[in-house]
Amino acid sequence: MSSRSRLGSTRFARVLAGMTASLLAAAVGACGGGHVALPQLSTSTVGDTAGLVQRGEYVVRNVSVCGHCHAADPRDPDGPLSGGLAFSNWRLGTIRAANLTPDAGTGLGSWSEAEIVRAIRNGEDNDGDLLAPIMPYEWLSAMGDRDALAVAAYLKSLRPVVRPVRNRPNLVFGAAKLFMLHPARTEGGTPPPRAPTAEYGRYLSTVALCADCHTPRGGLQQAPDRDRLYAGDASPPSAFPANPSNLTPDPETGIGRWSEADFLRTLRTGVNPRGDSLHAFMPWREYRRMTDDDLRAIYRYLRTLPPIQNEVPKKAAAPRG
Ligand code: HEC
Ligand code: HEC
Repeated sequence: MSSRSRLGSTRFARVLAGMTASLLAAAVGACGGGHVALPQLSTSTVGDTAGLVQRGEYVVRNVSVCGHCHAADPRDPDGPLSGGLAFSNWRLGTIRAANLTPDAGTGLGSWSEAEIVRAIRNGEDNDGDLLAPIMPYEWLSAMGDRDALAVAAYLKSLRPVVRPVRNRPNLVFGAAKLFMLHPARTEGGTPPPRAPTAEYGRYLSTVALCADCHTPRGGLQQAPDRDRLYAGDASPPSAFPANPSNLTPDPETGIGRWSEADFLRTLRTGVNPRGDSLHAFMPWREYRRMTDDDLRAIYRYLRTLPPIQNEVPKKAAAPRG
């Protein structure tokens, strides 16, 4: 199993661990398990369609790292997105990353673009059935309309690959879907204009899933601690091959002393200013293809965070990828 698959299942395990508590919240009826209406997205509402597929490729391959889970071979996240990677545990059964290529029988060939967008942002499949929260709709719900449509357009443009992907969800997961888990609310819409600004960096780092790994989780529901966004996690689940670093501007325990050039160099080369190589669990090999301005935006956003002192020791002897 790849480290990414361990990430997914461990995250999910932590979500489920808190479900007794969320039962109450669900009963109160935040979302009530209701279905999310299909988004009214069309090329007329998102404006200019020129370059839509190209933008989608950029988001899928370099920003939201879909291939980390959906690639046929997870060691090659840039390969065909025909899925198959299994995530298994007793709370879930076996859930496999879906085939995202447009094959009509085994992939997304028969899905509308609006259905794909809803799956990404809200976590419902084309029948309105809730997807396992391994699929990170918790963060992808922030994706703007145009980017989400671009992603759907890119997936539709791929070469169809025939690959049946079968799930074997267990009863625990079935019950959780009925009573406790619910779709994410769309936060997207119109993101800030693309520019090397903290504002855009905030958007980008969310849809790039940086916060998913770099934010500690806690409390009964093991929800991400949004008061400590990017504070790192010194005691992640044991399956994590590396400890997600503190990315807040704390000078001692975070990246407060890093210049913008340090940050860009680290994301591009996978080597930090101390000379440590980053474990491939950190998807720098994908992120390194982001433009300078996009990486700058993320850096500038991270500078606006409150510095949080949180020592995150590097795990020793991490294999490199
Ligand atoms: C952390 C792993 C992970 C990442 C990253 C991820 N996904 Fe998923 N995704 C999954 C898993 C696992 C499923 C299957 C969930 C299920 O069947 O309940 C899934 C399901 C889906 C589905 C539903 C397909 C179907 O046939 O039901 C779509 C569409 C999808 N993902 C698109 C994307 C896109 C696009 C991206 C990047 C923007 C992405 N995913 C990123 C793990 C991931
Ligand atoms: C799949 C989980 C994951 C995701 C997603 C992720 N990271 Fe990381 N990141 C890590 C881990 C784990 C480490 C520590 C690697 C090590 O110790 O070798 C790390 C290390 C880093 C470092 C080096 C910090 C240091 O002190 O050496 C930076 C910078 C960083 N990540 C930035 C980001 C940014 C920016 C994003 C989003 C664009 C991101 N990460 C997304 C897991 C992740």
